[in-house]
Amino acid sequence: MKIGIVGGTGREGRGLGVRWAKAGHDVFIGSRQSDKGVAKAAEFAKEFGVTLQGGDNVAACNHAELIIVTVPYSAHQGTFESIKDQVGDKVVVDITVPLQPPKVRSVHLPKGEAAALEARGYLNDDARLVAALHHISSEHLSDPDHAFDCDVLVCGDDKDARATVISLISDLGLRGVDAGVLKNAVALESLTPVLLHINRRYKSVGSGIRITGIPESE
Ligand SMILES: NC(=O)c1ccc[n+]([C@@H]2O[C@H](COP(=O)([O-])OP(=O)(O)OC[C@H]3O[C@@H](n4cnc5c(N)ncnc54)[C@H](OP(=O)(O)O)[C@@H]3O)[C@@H](O)[C@H]2O)c1
Repeated sequence: MKIGIVGGTGREGRGLGVRWAKAGHDVFIGSRQSDKGVAKAAEFAKEFGVTLQGGDNVAACNHAELIIVTVPYSAHQGTFESIKDQVGDKVVVDITVPLQPPKVRSVHLPKGEAAALEARGYLNDDARLVAALHHISSEHLSDPDHAFDCDVLVCGDDKDARATVISLISDLGLRGVDAGVLKNAVALESLTPVLLHINRRYKSVGSGIRITGIPESE
């Protein structure tokens, strides 16, 4: 699949882009600056022995069948508004956690209750927004030898879009779990500060969650 990563030059973008490229996807690393997108794509490609394209965020969206936005919450609204016209009816994955530094270990509910619900409001009605990957550390994503033992909760109002994202998540070496409607992003985004607390308390790197009780047949 053609995947465009908006803000793909950063920590999550690097890990996601490289893992998806390794799995055979056609990945485009987007940036606010075209030159930076090109340079970072070349840097990641060389470092991990994969093929990546790069350019600006608009080009990443135009290139993509599926768009994923990986920017800090402080850049969330501006970034979504800058790509709104390129999105059309594509699936857009928002991984944003609305952290409020320096209190990143304490739940912060933004005005719209969740970053993903706010993103829904920034896009045209056709866009199929999915929220996921809030609990997957960039350190683990960027380590090709790291085998995950945690799950990814995936929510969104379009069932087919959720299924598409769950399938892509399996290509990262993770199990995606259907977590229902987009409103449930409030719960998903709220869990990250808890995991950040756990990391500090237990000196863990990238603690995660595992859902039990799902039948093997699923
Ligand atoms: N890091 C993690 O382990 C982790 C885990 C789960 C979820 N998340 C979530 O994933 C998102 C990305 O995290 P990250 O650690 O990858 O972020 P990051 O590395 O700090 O930033 C990602 C990219 O966002 C762009 N950006 C930064 N500031 C911006 C601004 N003011 N305006 C527009 N674009 C800006 C930059 O791209 P350009 O300069 O190239 O435009 C940057 O490379 C966050 O919302 C975070 O909550 C992170």
